[in-house]
Amino acid sequence: KVKAKAKAEPKAKAKAKAKEPKPAGNYPVVVCGGCGGIGQPLAMLMAMDKNVSELCIYDLDISPMPPAGVAQDLIHLERKCTVKGYVGKLNEPPMNFMEEPLTGAHLVLIPAGLPRKPGQTRDDLFKINADIAKGLVEACAKYCPEAVLAMIVNPVNSIVPAMAELYKKKGLDPMKIIGVTTLDIVRANKFVGEETGKNPNFINVPVIGGHAGATILPVFSQDKAGKLLPAEKVPDMDKHVQDAGTDVVNAKNGKGSATLSMAYAGARFGSAVLSGLSGRRRTECAYCASTVTDLPYFAQPVVLGPKGIEKVLPIGELNEHETKRLEEVKVQLKGEIDSGLKYAEANS
Ligand code: NAD
Ligand code: LMR
Repeated sequence: KVKAKAKAEPKAKAKAKAKEPKPAGNYPVVVCGGCGGIGQPLAMLMAMDKNVSELCIYDLDISPMPPAGVAQDLIHLERKCTVKGYVGKLNEPPMNFMEEPLTGAHLVLIPAGLPRKPGQTRDDLFKINADIAKGLVEACAKYCPEAVLAMIVNPVNSIVPAMAELYKKKGLDPMKIIGVTTLDIVRANKFVGEETGKNPNFINVPVIGGHAGATILPVFSQDKAGKLLPAEKVPDMDKHVQDAGTDVVNAKNGKGSATLSMAYAGARFGSAVLSGLSGRRRTECAYCASTVTDLPYFAQPVVLGPKGIEKVLPIGELNEHETKRLEEVKVQLKGEIDSGLKYAEANS
């Protein structure tokens, strides 16, 4: 009995220790485009993250709401972080007005840019949004070169390669530029949950490739609920995930694209980045420079650690449908990556 008690004690101690909350991180975070459709709810969700010490809302002087107003609103949440608003001007080098919000930032979330209208593809937004992203990314290179830049702005498939190459040319780490594809995972989980009757909270379908049309490849076979889908339903479910963004664009009827679900997904990704920075590693799918296929940029699971992306994981086993689809992904994605590389070549 005495022996059993002696053994039990360290176990109980270990259990109590495991329950002790680890101290939260203290990270300044910036939302560029923080007054937009995604920016405002994303800023709110980030203000509620225990790892955020300071939240800067940055947007233009022509934005739908003054950044100071969004900040003054969020500052009343019962959370530890301070919130400040900063106003800028559209691509007016040397972008000095970004020095204060960006200096010391660990994570910069970028939902700044035009959304789609019905009939447009994400690719149609490339030129205008790439110019917006370039101004912001160059300011980050100058004022917070170590920060993780989470690129939400579309078309992710071309903008991330363009901005990562610009970072490379400046001698900075291109892996700091990460394309946020989390909304595709969120949608795949939701749709599989609806179809199988399982709780989407416990579903995690990896979505690989890219973030536009056929480049979005949900790998249902790698999730325990996803693999329950009858084979004849898989092509429709796959298409449902690919078309989900367009469904929102059409339902919003010219007034924008997904904002609330994107804010939810962006905050999931942003929180995972901050968790990784604080030493609690997390794995999420994301689009970044990659060698897991023969394409130089790809979305796949990545391990987020103390410096951002720590490891790009292999795509794992694919079934017959997914293997075929991967070839389709590569054809479209290659062209979209090339547009990004050309942009970087012409604009550095
Ligand atoms: P929005 O028009 O509602 O908001 C965009 C905001 O960006 C505005 O407040 C605008 O003033 C600001 N902005 C524009 N240029 C800026 C600059 N140079 N500096 C700072 N702020 C600037 O658009 P939205 O619905 O929030 O969408 C934003 C972007 O996110 C779009 O490109 C959209 O396609 C993309 N998006 C991506 C995903 C994804 O899964 N990655 C999902 C949804 C939307
Ligand atoms: C989405 O997937 O909802 C976004 O990329 C926005 C869009 O244009 O569809």
